[in-house]
Amino acid sequence: MKNNPLPRLDTSSEIREMILPLCRLKPGEIWTDPAGKHKVACIDAADGGAIESFMGRERVRLAIHDPPYNQIAFQERGVSEFIDWCRRWVEISIEAMDHDGSFYVWLGADQNDGFQPLPDFMLMMRGQPLKPRSFITLRNQRGYGTQKNWMAVRQELLYYVKGNPPFNVEAEYTDIPKILRGYYKEVDGALTENLERSKADTIRAGNVWIDVQQVFYRMEENVSGCYAQKPLKALERIIKASSGAGDLVIDFFAHSGTTLIAAERLGRRCYTTDIDPLYCEIAIRRLEQYRNTGRLGWQNGHPFEREITLPLPRAGTAETKRPGASALRAASKIDAGRD
Ligand SMILES: C[S@@+](CC[C@H](N)C(=O)[O-])C[C@H]1O[C@@H](n2cnc3c(N)ncnc32)[C@H](O)[C@@H]1O
Repeated sequence: MKNNPLPRLDTSSEIREMILPLCRLKPGEIWTDPAGKHKVACIDAADGGAIESFMGRERVRLAIHDPPYNQIAFQERGVSEFIDWCRRWVEISIEAMDHDGSFYVWLGADQNDGFQPLPDFMLMMRGQPLKPRSFITLRNQRGYGTQKNWMAVRQELLYYVKGNPPFNVEAEYTDIPKILRGYYKEVDGALTENLERSKADTIRAGNVWIDVQQVFYRMEENVSGCYAQKPLKALERIIKASSGAGDLVIDFFAHSGTTLIAAERLGRRCYTTDIDPLYCEIAIRRLEQYRNTGRLGWQNGHPFEREITLPLPRAGTAETKRPGASALRAASKIDAGRD
């Protein structure tokens, strides 16, 4: 396996400087898929005018958003300001939706700070013209915690609907076999138990997803440099459940481009935005790589391998004198140790 990752790009300013000239989109610009399916724009999700001209007359069947938790353009802000900002892109998103559409949002709860912003966001959503449908939890395998608290392993996903959109229940079946017996019921005079009666031999995901591996560096779908990548399996489940072939899916916070890749794989169209040109470029490159090679990410390599070679040569050689060399080397060690 390669050992050639990028560090987190949100905290590595030197590397950002190296990658920025490689980015196709400047703020305000749009990339249109030559295959005519998708679009990526470098715009602010809360800029109604920019989103409106990006969307054109297209109506959205499914919105899946994964905003930065209580950060706006990497600056910590207070929770009420964060919620005001969320209200803006939520309303812009609802405006772009079809009369029958689904709306999903990933959002965290800070257990060290009143569980914000999840409950604040839920209250804000009560004022929106959407119906709440489910409160989903994705259970991570690994978590963070201390010996004095429960290990934190959850990621929250809220599901709302506008009008009466389709829901494809088939998408809910996992590959986990049914193993528990014991729910007996009389059918045609005979006592049967649940395994005999069931139509499927696997369990449904329900609203607690325990069968989705979180992304880490050994997985092919890993996109190093990204710090908040969601698993493709989760995005594919949402898209299969709440959209049909050819439907338009939006994601205002592209980052590693997971929604874009999931849409491509499932024959949906995706319009996605990110405020940061680096993540727009990564999302586009991820799509291009998928189309050219079938690979889902870069595992322990990275999206700029053609232009930036890691690991860098040892100190003392001419090449290490170029800007960013020491930072790149240090960061690649950190990332390789992540699990
Ligand atoms: C939590 S990540 C999304 C992760 C994504 N679901 C994935 O699987 O890779 C949030 C992204 O939102 C972007 N972002 C932050 N503020 C934004 C804004 N105002 N408009 C659009 N994107 C923004 C960040 O640059 C970051 O890439």
